[in-house]
Amino acid sequence: MKRILHLADLHFGRAHPHAVESIYQFLSDQGKEIDLAVITGDWTQRARVEEFEAAREFVEKFGKKVVSLPGNHDVPLYNLWQRWLTPLERYRQHLEPVTQSAHHDPEVAVFGLHTVNPWVVADGRVSSAEISRAQNFFSTAAPEAVRIVGTHHPIFGKQPLENGTKVLETLRPHVVLSGHAHREGAELIVNPDGSQTLHVVSGSSASNRLRGEENSFHLLEVERGRIAVKTFFLKDTGFAYLEKKGRVFAIASH
Ligand SMILES: [Fe+2]
Ligand SMILES: [Fe+2]
Repeated sequence: MKRILHLADLHFGRAHPHAVESIYQFLSDQGKEIDLAVITGDWTQRARVEEFEAAREFVEKFGKKVVSLPGNHDVPLYNLWQRWLTPLERYRQHLEPVTQSAHHDPEVAVFGLHTVNPWVVADGRVSSAEISRAQNFFSTAAPEAVRIVGTHHPIFGKQPLENGTKVLETLRPHVVLSGHAHREGAELIVNPDGSQTLHVVSGSSASNRLRGEENSFHLLEVERGRIAVKTFFLKDTGFAYLEKKGRVFAIASH
């Protein structure tokens, strides 16, 4: 079994210090049991250099392998020249040296898919080139590995990916891990061919801009055919596990 921590929407620049400290506290208490982290975008609030520096420092202190992908807040908003010509320059400069874009081992294959569309403010879209990169990656992964795709924009829900069904059809993931919504959730999707995909959305793990829900993250226990999603919400004393019914999913292999 693999234990994967799934965080999103840290939004350095608007990150709550109590949330950040509480993530470190959680890692110091339970970090030994965690194999990998997946952080699904919106690392920063406005893609400023000092925000990326804080994000990088967070990863360096984190002490675990991190699979990362950018969110819509990680490209410059107001400098249109930069936004259109080199949207991911700061993300690449600061975060790519300390994170991975993918990870695979005999049990899990995880790919961080870029979904940011710099031509619009918030909506997401996956390019054909990204899909091809992911297909190549999964073709080299162990056939028995659980296929996990990270996307910033969720497949369904508010502000979903424009072409999320293409991700499901072409990559046939067992799990999609998303962010962006600032509200957590987990649900099983039945695809047109009858296969199943678990769609997990992390709440904002540290932003002080909340949408009616406390900061949170997930701890996933991943085995082929069975995935448990445990959600931790921020309280005064730190992140605390809140047991939710129906969060153990049986996923038919495909
Ligand atoms: Fe966000
Ligand atoms: Fe976002």
